[in-house]
Amino acid sequence: MTDAPFDTVARVFAPDAVGRPVRLRGWVLRARSSGGILFLVLRDRTGIVQVTGRRDALGAEAFDRAEHVQVEGAVTVEGTVAEDRRAPDGREVRASAIGVVHAGEPFPIWTDQTEEFRLDQRHLVVRSQEHVATFRIKAEFLRACREFLDREEVLEMTPPVLTGNAAEGGAEAFAIDYFGRPGYLGQTAQLYLEALIFPHERVYALTPSFRAEKSRTPRHLTEYLHLEVELAWCDLADLTAFIERMIVSTVRAVAERRPKELEVLGRPPAELTAIEAPFPRIRYAEAIDRLAAQGFPVQWGSDLGSAEERALTLESRVPLFVTHYPRELKAFYMSQSRDDPRTVEAADLLAPEGYGEMVGASCRETDVARLQERLGTMGVDPAPYEWYLDLRRHGNVPHAGFGLGIERVLRWMLRREHIREVTPFPRTPSRLTP
Ligand code: 4AD
Ligand code: MG
Repeated sequence: MTDAPFDTVARVFAPDAVGRPVRLRGWVLRARSSGGILFLVLRDRTGIVQVTGRRDALGAEAFDRAEHVQVEGAVTVEGTVAEDRRAPDGREVRASAIGVVHAGEPFPIWTDQTEEFRLDQRHLVVRSQEHVATFRIKAEFLRACREFLDREEVLEMTPPVLTGNAAEGGAEAFAIDYFGRPGYLGQTAQLYLEALIFPHERVYALTPSFRAEKSRTPRHLTEYLHLEVELAWCDLADLTAFIERMIVSTVRAVAERRPKELEVLGRPPAELTAIEAPFPRIRYAEAIDRLAAQGFPVQWGSDLGSAEERALTLESRVPLFVTHYPRELKAFYMSQSRDDPRTVEAADLLAPEGYGEMVGASCRETDVARLQERLGTMGVDPAPYEWYLDLRRHGNVPHAGFGLGIERVLRWMLRREHIREVTPFPRTPSRLTP
């Protein structure tokens, strides 16, 4: 073995690589040997390549050692890049040396295992091609979100996750014992972001949010990644236009930069680049009429559950904004509509094809008395919210913001049946390990 620097698998497929030496390291995807030739499929972070090693080239002892490497064992390979029409992608590496880093134990993961077993083995399943594609796409989506927010001059903030406020409704917050005082795992960073618009005007945070919802649905996690934006001097029309630009821009970026990964998951990138603004907007009242016409037992005041949300977008290829919900259905901080005091200046963005809510958005109530009244009606102790009410006493301005569930967007983008498929170690009511 030489001590030349290591190449990556991508190097094997460079235009000038044929006939050149390479030095690789990675994990064995599969292996077999026949007639004194070892065939290894090697994976690293950049790709997959077939490696062939002849017993006479490697030496009998090294050949025997390499032959015992298990699936997901780790090896180093020295060899020469060769054209080979039979190999996937038309090239292979003919090895002059194969070093065993870790032969490994028999790998316990294969197809046709039950979903429960695969969830128990998630720490190993994350190596699968499907998961590799999924998490490359997730990283790309997060990168695209940050790029978009940067272009829009929205500043990244770092709000706390431990809090004394259960902002979205006490029942669904994970309560913790904070040195003998009541505390919660954050459900939203919104209240902190609202405080930060006064010095910065346009802010965002990307933090885990926690929801103690016992409901086992294909779209709820107890811990999810929450992208929240808060903008000063913003009304509902500005806010929905901002969200629309962000979705179009980030989804397009993923489609352009990760076409191979999208194909692995069966989502043609062209379906995503076809998504254009403006998205249709309907009022809650109209949504209720449409649902009633479809036979749903709903009336003004009914909450839109997953079945209702699904029905509203099942046939559509672009997202849909539903606006102006009844105030009783929504959080205490949303501002009352001027033209219809029964409703709030809020919008939910529903994903196409029936995937349901991806974004919750609203204008924030700026009137202290109204906020106090709403907390009172909801039976919430106002004491922990005193600091929040204080924001309305010093240079109060109209503002609005939204929260986007990263995994909700990805579930739709990748058409996954269950939201747990787009997070590496899902947290659900029944799962806290691995
Ligand atoms: O609609 P939500 O509850 O809104 C808020 O928390 C606001 N305070 C956000 C804001 O304005 N800053 O949650 C926002 C989004 C939802 O639209 C959904 O995409 C996602 O968070 N979400 C969940 N994702 C996965 N699992 C759950 N249990 C989720 N609950 C909400
Ligand atoms: Mg919501």
